[in-house]
Amino acid sequence: MNPLITDYPVSTAPTPVIVALDFANENDTLAFVRQLSPDLCQLKIGKELFTATGRSLAEKLINQGFKLFLDLKYLDIPNTVAQACKVAAEMGVWIVDMHASGGRRMMEAATEAVANYSQRPHLIGVTVLTSMEAADLREIGLNQSPEELVLSWAKLSQSSGLDGVVCSAQEARILRQHLGNDFLLVTPGIRLNTANNSDDQRRIMTPAEALTAGSSYLVMGRPITQAAHPAAVLREINAQAAQLLSA
Ligand code: C5P
Repeated sequence: MNPLITDYPVSTAPTPVIVALDFANENDTLAFVRQLSPDLCQLKIGKELFTATGRSLAEKLINQGFKLFLDLKYLDIPNTVAQACKVAAEMGVWIVDMHASGGRRMMEAATEAVANYSQRPHLIGVTVLTSMEAADLREIGLNQSPEELVLSWAKLSQSSGLDGVVCSAQEARILRQHLGNDFLLVTPGIRLNTANNSDDQRRIMTPAEALTAGSSYLVMGRPITQAAHPAAVLREINAQAAQLLSA
């Protein structure tokens, strides 16, 4: 077992939710985060917010006690990605991600670069973007189906030393079967009520469905950021998760 996984065991995560901070600036982000606390959720900063606010907001949130997923989806030569992962480790980031299509040498370099940090970030692979269909893949020279590619890139991520992958909750069950219980599956596309609220997400699951399928963590943006009472929604999801895990 990867020793780092024991820091945040899948089955005893206090809360499975990673709230996607899809805001354009620091003021809006901090005003929203004031309604949350580190025992309710983890946080995710993506490209828009990081481009606007950089390292300083990320460190502010970490200093408030939040575990932070830096979702910058690195893809570059091995040395460049390894150095970026080192900076993330020095900042105290909890999860950092990279495209599995960068290949084994890139992922192994990243793994090695953070190996000696006492509190190193989990390294997570991004497989096939959920926005891409078979025709998009063919156009860039990839002739496998999206499902085949997700599985093969997830296996490559694991054998290159990564701690998990970002994937659709619909893929969680099959990935769990092939990759075992200690591999982190971080799944976006979660909706509280799948019948009438999908926004622009196409293949969605509820928190309970995704956890039952094998998700380790649920990335949730709008269902939390646009809720009238975000903390209350998180408490409800955490209660459901605790119930599932104790069943
Ligand atoms: O608002 P919503 O819950 O749809 O937000 C989902 C978050 O997860 C966004 O930050 C989005 O960029 C991210 N994401 C996604 N699908 C992926 C990977 C990341 O929706 N395949």
